[in-house]
Amino acid sequence: MEEFHKVRRLPPYVFEQVNRLKASARAAGADIIDLGMGNPDLPTPQSIVDKLCEVVRDPRTHRYSSSKGIPGLRRAQAGYYARRFGVKLNPETEVVATLGSKEGFANMAQAITAPGDVILCPNPTYPIHAFGFLMAGGVIRSLSVEPDDSFFPPLERAVKHSIPKPLALVINYPSNPTAHVATLDFYKEVIAFARKHEIIVLSDLAYSEIYFDGAPPPSVLQVPGAKDVAVEFTSMSKTFSMPGWRMGFAVGNERLISALARVKSYLDYGAFTPIQVAATHALNGDGKDIEEVRSIYHKRRDVMVESFGKAGWDVTPPAATMFAWAKIPEPFQALGSLEFSKLLVEKADVAVAPGIGFGEHGDQHVRIALVENEHRIRQAARNLKRFFASADVATDNIVALNAHR
Ligand SMILES: Cc1ncc(COP(=O)(O)O)c(C=O)c1O
Repeated sequence: MEEFHKVRRLPPYVFEQVNRLKASARAAGADIIDLGMGNPDLPTPQSIVDKLCEVVRDPRTHRYSSSKGIPGLRRAQAGYYARRFGVKLNPETEVVATLGSKEGFANMAQAITAPGDVILCPNPTYPIHAFGFLMAGGVIRSLSVEPDDSFFPPLERAVKHSIPKPLALVINYPSNPTAHVATLDFYKEVIAFARKHEIIVLSDLAYSEIYFDGAPPPSVLQVPGAKDVAVEFTSMSKTFSMPGWRMGFAVGNERLISALARVKSYLDYGAFTPIQVAATHALNGDGKDIEEVRSIYHKRRDVMVESFGKAGWDVTPPAATMFAWAKIPEPFQALGSLEFSKLLVEKADVAVAPGIGFGEHGDQHVRIALVENEHRIRQAARNLKRFFASADVATDNIVALNAHR
């Protein structure tokens, strides 16, 4: 029987292949250090957990909640944008709470896409940026991801040569997986371009608070006039170590926000009220929890760059996000990112995410997530050093296997 139309557009997750290998190595007793999935290992701060426990005792909170978010939560998110970015938002019309930013992004795609609409999307990028639109019937045109002057000529060409004219442009800075950070000047150019060509801008700012060097990452909505064309997504998953709680936001252009709210009103009843109240409490906090999370990732980043460097793998220090985007070491480049990642699981007990899982242009890199503690990161570096020292044997093996197929 033929595969369903939508399922055919969703190839099996590349990461699954590494996950399977990881699971079987673990089942065989290996101690795999997992720097693969971007799943934060830090506990949610205690006061947020306490708030949830307090609120859940009130049976009135057990009913269906509000799909677009309870008013206090939307006000808290508007307060965050005002404090952090100096951006004024109307919590009634310009803020929607989402079940994580991934859900918000995917349902925004559902809300705005007609079959065949062209979407300009970074490559490599977090998979939902492309697959959200593919599931909605859109067509993806890939763009380079460096937020500098090199971004605009391909963008100009894409707009000139796409038929129909692109509906939307996706941007994601700080980027998962590349960790590139955009400046406000870059955003100004993006917004000027989008306004001129009447293109929607969808900005994924999931890593707004995970930054290490210099100034905090800006919001695209800081650009005057951005609200005419742009919506931005933020997430509580990384900022407050709340990935399993599923809480995020879409804010910005009223028409787009209202389209998303309409679609969501048909699909869900919003997050469980106690989660929404605890999220409100988190956003209205004094920022100390955020600082602590940031400083833990910062230390892990430094340990990773230093210890991997000593092991013979020079990794560019990411200025933001919880990821390093590491070029595959020279002797292994011909393998590509999937085979290299499998090799690391098999021979070094270290799991990373193959760059190809983020798009074809990611195949020369792997993504290293800072989701194990400093001690384990150093252990990973020791394992890698041992593996690199025996690399000739290892690469012979893998080449032989490939040739055999
Ligand atoms: C760039 C980016 N956007 C969105 C998400 C999803 O976040 P959420 O947990 O809010 O759905 C992630 C999670 O890894 C991400 O890296």
